[in-house]
Amino acid sequence: MAMAMARQRGPAGGVAVPFMMAALLLAAALPARVVVAQDLAGDRAALLALRGALDRGNILPWDATAPTPCVWRGVGCAQTPTGTRVTELRLPGKRLAGTIPPGTLGNLTALQKLSLRHNTITGAIPADIGNCGELRAMNLTDNQFTGPVPDGFFSLAVLRRADLALNRLTGGVSQDFNRLKQLDTLFLQSNDLAGALPAGLYLPNLKRFNVSFNAGLTGPVPASLSRMPATAFLGTALCDGPLAACTNSTPPAPPPGGDDNGRRGLSRWAIVGIIVAAAFLLLLLMGLVACLRRRQAPAGRPAGGAAANVHEGAAPLTVTVARTDRDAVKQSHAPPIAPVMIREGGNKKLVFLGSAPERPYDLETLLRASAEVIGKGALGTTYRATLDGGDPVLAVKRLREMHLSEDEFRDKAAALGALHHDNLPRLRAFFYSREEKLLVYDFVGAGSLSALLHDGGAEGRAELDFTARARIALAAARGVAFIHRGGSRLSHGSIKSSNIVVTATRDGAYVSDYGVAELAGAAALPRRGAGYHAPEVTDARAVPQSADVYSFGVVVLELLSGRAPAHALPDGADGVDLPRWVRSVVQEEWTSEVFDAAIANEPRVEGEMMRLLQLGMECTEQRPDRRPTMAQVEARIQRIVEDACRKADFSSTDGSRSVSA
Ligand SMILES: *[C@@H]1O[C@H](CO)[C@@H](O)[C@H](O)[C@H]1NC(C)=O
Ligand SMILES: *[C@@H]1O[C@H](CO)[C@@H](O)[C@H](O)[C@H]1NC(C)=O
Ligand SMILES: *[C@@H]1O[C@H](CO)[C@@H](O)[C@H](O)[C@H]1NC(C)=O
Repeated sequence: MAMAMARQRGPAGGVAVPFMMAALLLAAALPARVVVAQDLAGDRAALLALRGALDRGNILPWDATAPTPCVWRGVGCAQTPTGTRVTELRLPGKRLAGTIPPGTLGNLTALQKLSLRHNTITGAIPADIGNCGELRAMNLTDNQFTGPVPDGFFSLAVLRRADLALNRLTGGVSQDFNRLKQLDTLFLQSNDLAGALPAGLYLPNLKRFNVSFNAGLTGPVPASLSRMPATAFLGTALCDGPLAACTNSTPPAPPPGGDDNGRRGLSRWAIVGIIVAAAFLLLLLMGLVACLRRRQAPAGRPAGGAAANVHEGAAPLTVTVARTDRDAVKQSHAPPIAPVMIREGGNKKLVFLGSAPERPYDLETLLRASAEVIGKGALGTTYRATLDGGDPVLAVKRLREMHLSEDEFRDKAAALGALHHDNLPRLRAFFYSREEKLLVYDFVGAGSLSALLHDGGAEGRAELDFTARARIALAAARGVAFIHRGGSRLSHGSIKSSNIVVTATRDGAYVSDYGVAELAGAAALPRRGAGYHAPEVTDARAVPQSADVYSFGVVVLELLSGRAPAHALPDGADGVDLPRWVRSVVQEEWTSEVFDAAIANEPRVEGEMMRLLQLGMECTEQRPDRRPTMAQVEARIQRIVEDACRKADFSSTDGSRSVSA
């Protein structure tokens, strides 16, 4: 940099005074130290220009007529000393291509967090990036940036995390990095950097560092980096520190691209290339096989599978299950349950658990009831049955497959029937015959949490504020914790949002389907709901309590993000590995992006939202022994709900003042 300045000044010194004046005036207008006077309107113009340059595929759904850029997807704003400004720009994997022009990114002078990872942006990292003096985290990994790290980069005084890995950056690793005193993460791996690492490189706060696979890097690892693991320097010709000692043939600081080392680096690079290519080929093959299998699967599945695309909790189909009205059964989309039951019904009876109902009913009455399908899962179909005269209303679960003997079934059902808790639907009766197994519950609630979150789109979710979501989580936690208190070997086994029934007032819930997996006796984990399974679970009949906690944690993350976990929705749409996704966003300190837009800007409860998010993440720890117990989960959500309600009360009595303030 000093060199460059000297070169600029050189000729100017020898030329007439007027020219120098002009140069000075010009210099004053250059970005160097001059503050680009910016405001939200300027941010907006810069963003639109950036989109114009990079968004060839028109992927970014930014409404240019919106009064503020803060509502655009991937853009975050906050109050700053210069007013409300764009402070976050997060556009990972948006198929952005092209070069970033000057006066775009560099005009976002209040930017604190920037992610453009996983795109195909080319050209240099913009020289005016140095104007973004508030930048704390920057992730440009996996693009095609070329050229050296620009000088402006080194004036980002508060930068803490920089990820420039997987690009095509050239040049050396400059000692100017020392100016980034706050830097704790510096990822430069898989670029084309070359030369020696400066011996005086010293970053006091550096915790994570990686320059692997820059084949042209040679010479000794600087003292300050010698405590980094050897894997931080893979695929380079570096030596000393955690690596093999430098020998005479590896001089301390050879010229970049020196013949000997260049070749050595290249050959290592080639080996790495071959390994990567082989792994890629293997992956490709595996993918192909998996794809072929999946294509074959539907054809081989039993006929029942055809109807399985009715979404759990979807708008109910009305079906009349009546022995006298077989046509009605035929017209329905539901499997004809009545005829089967009737054949067997002659000598078999409905078995009541606990006391008989006030208004007794029998199998015949049940069969005559009008019913509608309210849920369909791997284990069976659930109907809502309204008995003649309107009352009572029951939920009848018809199990699909069964591997238990009648005695085993009766014992287990009796144990389930003995559980009474406000947040568990009560099992009232069961029916067991060779061909038909039914569980009869009290009908509760107003639909599944899954339907509430995912069927109504953003509008549906808008009806659930944070406190309502936290209350639903609390109610569900109470139900599950109650099951766990019954003994260390008792677990729910199938916690997911489609098994959580929300009350009509939308502030409570019931946990349904407890014990059903065990009753069905099938070991195979259903593919549906795979996103809720703890990684260590392999047998659906043996789900430990810690795995229930994991599944519950996924539900918490689902409640907060409004996103469905992988394989949760029937068409497989939109599912993500929620625990992983949340971690990747939080790791980059874009925590606010995790929250469902419908609750993200709720005033006063940010703290409670963060606490619930933290809890959801703890529940979904990979290692079972790191997860809290369900009793702890219940207690913590209880406190979160109490605090949130206190603040909500405060805001409703104090609303007018806070608005005028
Ligand atoms: C960026 O800021 C400069 C200086 O204020 C201004 O001239 C330029 O037009 C801005 N760029 C955009 C795209 O608005
Ligand atoms: C550095 O990056 C390489 C390539 O991505 C990776 O294999 C290695 O484990 C990383 N090392 C560290 C310490 O992060
Ligand atoms: C940048 O994003 C990648 C991909 O998500 C992630 O693996 C990496 O940890 C991020 N870098 C930083 C410094 O957070």
